[in-house]
Amino acid sequence: MQERVKKALTDFIAAIRAAKIYTTNHPKFTDSVNNLYNNLQSIFKERRELIIGVVNGELAFEQFIFFDLSKKLKPLILYLQEKDIERIVFYQSLQREELARFLEVLADPEGNGKKGFGSYFSLLGIKNIHAGKIKTHSSELKDKVKKLRNYLMEYEGSLEKVNEYLQKVIDQEELDYLELRYDILNFLENMIEMYQEFLDLTTFRRKDLITFVHVLNVTILALHISSKMGYMKDVVLDIGIAALFHDIGKLYISNKIIQKTDKLDKQELSLMKHHSVIGAEILFKYMDSLGLLPVVVAYEHHLRYDLKGYPKLAFPQKPHPLSLLVSMCDVYDALSQIRSYKKSYPPIQIYNVMQKERGKAFAPELLDTFFQIIGVWPVKSIVSLSEGSIAAVKEQNGNDIFNPKVEILSPEKKRGLVDLSKNKIKIVEYLDPFGKGKKFLQMIGSGKQASVA
Ligand SMILES: [Fe+2]
Ligand SMILES: [Fe+2]
Repeated sequence: MQERVKKALTDFIAAIRAAKIYTTNHPKFTDSVNNLYNNLQSIFKERRELIIGVVNGELAFEQFIFFDLSKKLKPLILYLQEKDIERIVFYQSLQREELARFLEVLADPEGNGKKGFGSYFSLLGIKNIHAGKIKTHSSELKDKVKKLRNYLMEYEGSLEKVNEYLQKVIDQEELDYLELRYDILNFLENMIEMYQEFLDLTTFRRKDLITFVHVLNVTILALHISSKMGYMKDVVLDIGIAALFHDIGKLYISNKIIQKTDKLDKQELSLMKHHSVIGAEILFKYMDSLGLLPVVVAYEHHLRYDLKGYPKLAFPQKPHPLSLLVSMCDVYDALSQIRSYKKSYPPIQIYNVMQKERGKAFAPELLDTFFQIIGVWPVKSIVSLSEGSIAAVKEQNGNDIFNPKVEILSPEKKRGLVDLSKNKIKIVEYLDPFGKGKKFLQMIGSGKQASVA
């Protein structure tokens, strides 16, 4: 549904543009109206109305905020804001002619007179489209969007920075070390407490920056874990920098390969496997400014605790503990990405997969510490409980990783916080936020905070 609404919004802006350029009986305009109309019809097969919200300069549909469409839809959003329209409702009984007239009005800035849009529409016989202000939950929704938008801006800004730094190293340009360290410090300060929110934002990721999302996520995780482990701030920053560059070899190779139009040959594929060595070689040139750790981590991050990974060493020796730390964050993020593609991949599966590698790919104590910090069920996971209620994970219990503190969302009368480690109630099932868990997402944090049971 989200995708269909997105498509309808894209068609919506295309139709307004067509209405501005062409006369109302021009085939280009009628085609675009038909497109949008057909799209809306397919949405109306499943619901009686479609409500689009305009909140803080973003377009929203239910709990989805179409950040990635914002740039494209900016003229529409500005226009609606100017007219004080906070929501548009399309009703199922919408007629094609009404839609065409509505688009004409939106396209003609002079045409809507001084009256409010609502009454103007009814004068024109547009009954199945309403445009006006949001009446309920406006401020709550506004706050939510504002918060999300700030996170997004931070995240996108960080992605641009990651992009910039990695590109510089790939092109073997000079790096401003102090600036880099300062930026990593900023990541650390902005993201540590909210790291889960930031990781969640990957669903809004921009396609042109997709390669850097993994790197940024690994950096955020490594900063989060190492600071919780009690490393001194200076060391935490060093770890962040090492995490930022851990896959630089891969980016270097893929950049070169992307420029090639033919199919990759065997040699190029096996080259991809050597990204750890290539990365170390590149970073070696920056040793004066970045130090030795990024070189070591890039070289060792696929080596594994049992040394069965790559590269093959002539004189085997255990990887540096910080290489093992970054490699764990690396695998965790890769598995989480699978989760966001195959929506039903539950966090417990990530835990089980990684647990199987305890003492093999991962150092045993380090793996334990990792899950003590982030828990089996990440904060904000929607879960069903053994006594039948639905809850969201609120806070981890370090010494009882399966039983975090949760916020009961439903049923209403049970709302409040429960510490599962001090209770017989257990988590039964993870509810996919795109499926069964979807309807509970908006309830997180909105209930009264009862005392911890
Ligand atoms: Fe890698
Ligand atoms: Fe990686």
